[in-house]
Amino acid sequence: MRSRIKDILEQGAASAPCSFSGWVRSVRVMKGLCFIVLNDGSDVNGIQIVVDPSLHNFVRISHLGTGSALTVTGILVASPASGQKWELSAQKIEIVGNADDSYPLQKKRHSFEYLRTIAHLRPRTNTFGAVFRLRSKLAQAVHRFFSEQNFLYVHTPIITSSDCEGAGELFRVTTLDPSNHPLINGVPDYSQDFFAQKTGLTVSGQLEGELFALAFRDIYTFGPTFRAENSNTARHASEFWMIEPEMAFADLSDDADLAEKFIKYLCRFALEECSEDMAFFDKHIENGLIERITGVAEADFARMEYTEAIDRLERSSASFSYPVKWGLDLQTEHERYITEKIVGGPTFIINYPKEIKAFYMRQNNDGRTVAAMDLLVPKVGEIIGGSQREERLDLLESRMTEMKIADESLWWYLDSRRWGSSPHAGFGLGFERLVMYLSGMENIRDVIPFPRTPRHCEF
Ligand code: 4AD
Ligand code: MG
Repeated sequence: MRSRIKDILEQGAASAPCSFSGWVRSVRVMKGLCFIVLNDGSDVNGIQIVVDPSLHNFVRISHLGTGSALTVTGILVASPASGQKWELSAQKIEIVGNADDSYPLQKKRHSFEYLRTIAHLRPRTNTFGAVFRLRSKLAQAVHRFFSEQNFLYVHTPIITSSDCEGAGELFRVTTLDPSNHPLINGVPDYSQDFFAQKTGLTVSGQLEGELFALAFRDIYTFGPTFRAENSNTARHASEFWMIEPEMAFADLSDDADLAEKFIKYLCRFALEECSEDMAFFDKHIENGLIERITGVAEADFARMEYTEAIDRLERSSASFSYPVKWGLDLQTEHERYITEKIVGGPTFIINYPKEIKAFYMRQNNDGRTVAAMDLLVPKVGEIIGGSQREERLDLLESRMTEMKIADESLWWYLDSRRWGSSPHAGFGLGFERLVMYLSGMENIRDVIPFPRTPRHCEF
């Protein structure tokens, strides 16, 4: 029987001995007894094991190093210590894997910066245990939400020949020899490459997602996403996970409704299904977190026109590092000011200038904005980016020409506007931004198991 410590603690006292395994978090010897805290990753606290000197390997056990792997058998008894209901009175302890004092996680607290350099070991700490349990649960909640809403789950490709966001942030996928790249008249000849065309890792599953929405009505994708964006911030990763729903016969307002329902669902889910880890974050990472998330789960999200947002930023007394002007994109400092200071809660900014948004967004009648929406939340800024898509073939083609996007590579996308085109809309939620938002963790590198950022791809 492979029992989890969490289950054993939940079952409570029993007369029969129980047995489980885990890793040592601490060993103390007091008044002749040895106390070991053992953790198997199933909860924050693990279990306290009390070892009596009569145990045949007591001396060995009392000198165990932090990080050692043990299998323990004993009787669960009520604990006289505060903060824990049960402890285990050990009958047998088997040392499965030893760890000596060179094990790097000796101290109680290490900085997140240091722990990033030992990302192979940090899952064994309390904070990262809580982060990765929350992350796992939230991934399952994403599927549960869309399943309850009858959305079709589609696996969009990872290797692609199109740059959805048009920002030129594609990582190249090639089998050509870089030192001997075939050229025709000095121009790279991709016809000799593996796929006989220029390919890269996807920056978004949206374009393929749209094709499925135009067959199944409501779909979503949830997968790894790659951006060769050279921005070294606490919110950008070169490899991250994105959730992208897409709905046919839907407009921007339907899109915002779905996003709001989705975020609130995830907030409630975290509070209800991950309460122990959320309490940990509230205590150790961000005081007031639970109150903040409860507030979001109950709030009405504001909706504000981009034009109004610019107007209010211009009229504010705040001094920003980046300029504020109609036509310029909002920077994180502006986004946070809007959601934290002006509105005081989650806010959709809608109808952005077309010049700062992607080619596929639906053009509004004013001739200068598109039906885009970004959801801004306190602490993080943009967490969702979405839009109603341009479903009118002529307008889509003329926008692509204006933006110098070659339409031969997107012939299949244009085809979807040729036959049975319909209004449709969708959005992308950055999964790591969500985990940051719900845990209070402030750096994206600390919510993804093995972060990839410019100049970092270890492990
Ligand atoms: O705003 P973005 O670029 O939108 C799209 O990719 C659309 N195709 C989505 C759609 O409409 N289907 O990205 C969407 C979200 C952002 O709001 C952000 O949360 C996250 O993806 N994101 C990143 N997260 C981490 N690291 C990065 N480099 C990110 N870039 C975007
Ligand atoms: Mg965006």
